[in-house]
Amino acid sequence: MSEAVRQDWLAGKGTALQGSLRVPGDKSISHRAVMLGALAEGITQIHGFLEGEDTRATARIFTQLGVRIDTPAPTVCVVHGVRLHGLRGTDEVLDCGNAGTGMRLLAGVLAGQAFDSVLIGDASLTKRPMRRVTDPLTAMGARIDTGEGGTPPLRVQASTGLQGIDYALPVASAQVKSAVLLAGLYAEGETVVREPHPTRDYTERMLATFGWPVETGPGVVRLSGGHRLRAARVDVPADFSSAAFFIVAATIIPGSELRLEAVGINPRRTGLLQVLRLMGADIREANRRGDGGEPVADLLVRHAPLHGIEVPSALVADMIDEFPILFVAAACASGRTVVRDAAELRVKESDRIATMATGLRTLGISVEETPDGAVIEGGRLGGGSIDTHDDHRIAMSFAVAAQRASGEVRINDIATVATSFPGFVELARAAGMAIDAIAGPRAL
Ligand code: S3P
Repeated sequence: MSEAVRQDWLAGKGTALQGSLRVPGDKSISHRAVMLGALAEGITQIHGFLEGEDTRATARIFTQLGVRIDTPAPTVCVVHGVRLHGLRGTDEVLDCGNAGTGMRLLAGVLAGQAFDSVLIGDASLTKRPMRRVTDPLTAMGARIDTGEGGTPPLRVQASTGLQGIDYALPVASAQVKSAVLLAGLYAEGETVVREPHPTRDYTERMLATFGWPVETGPGVVRLSGGHRLRAARVDVPADFSSAAFFIVAATIIPGSELRLEAVGINPRRTGLLQVLRLMGADIREANRRGDGGEPVADLLVRHAPLHGIEVPSALVADMIDEFPILFVAAACASGRTVVRDAAELRVKESDRIATMATGLRTLGISVEETPDGAVIEGGRLGGGSIDTHDDHRIAMSFAVAAQRASGEVRINDIATVATSFPGFVELARAAGMAIDAIAGPRAL
């Protein structure tokens, strides 16, 4: 019998948000920097690395595969690259934890190795679809078995040689694109990936930074096997998806004026800024610069009344991780907000359409679920008890919603917040939000 204490939050109305803060490093970039650093020749220095559970799991896996990774200071990660064919197999399973990005990108890397490996994950990751990566990798010549229903664990057999592929992604997914491109490093000939909508382009940008020739055009990325990766310095900007909770919080809490420092504003990530501005938000960018090849800016956010809109479908891929917090903004807006063409939300860390709809209804907001989105009527938020379904972004979204609630909001099972945003509560409280961590009931 296992005994664990559940971790919950109690959140309610705080004060106006004031001051300046920097959220932790970008998760997507941190995963990729460890991966490419491990496969490169030389020593890669990563500054601003996200010390979250997801990215630590990826680093731990490369250590298991024989890569030395030092952490000489907080958020600094030094990866001693072993080159493309220098990873060593292990009998141990490789545990990706909660990280879909870790597992899907690693599937691409491991597909090209001369040893067998087994990738596993936590309860949430074990429910997520993996055929979207194993199908194209199999077409390249990889041999990968999934669990029943196409879910983890992934058993990757030693490669007998991969062939390049010309692959049109059936869904817009940076993770699938990246898995195919990473396998393409090991493949004979050219690998081409075509996207239905452009998605975050960190893999292709970082490959180029590490010296691998990559050609990009509208909706298409091409590379060929047979080159080398050379170590590089990576400066990781603050994660836009983590900043998003504070952007919405400062927008909906009267009297707020908040500066978010050095946020990555890659256009493939910042669809939420455009949507919030269409809803009436007051968000300005200052000190625009290009740290480490990625556009970065300070974001100045002031409280502003919001009104509902129809979220343009063209922006869905550019804000795919921000829908939980957008739902909160919509609940605080006047009128109706409509989200469509976002069925991918159903296969994230939880079914984010259902989880958000249920939670907002608990707080008194009218939400109609549709197969690929929702219709949210802005209203007054009350108190209640929220089930996060072990989804970090659901937990943080409701912590923000609570700041506008007339009653206390209990947010159950918040442990997964550490996957992407260690220190969220401390930063949120310092800015003015009211959140207390409490021990939940004992789970038997
Ligand atoms: C990610 C891509 C997105 C996103 C995830 C991180 C990445 O997933 O939701 O949090 O780092 O490539 P999909 O590519 O599956 O949409």
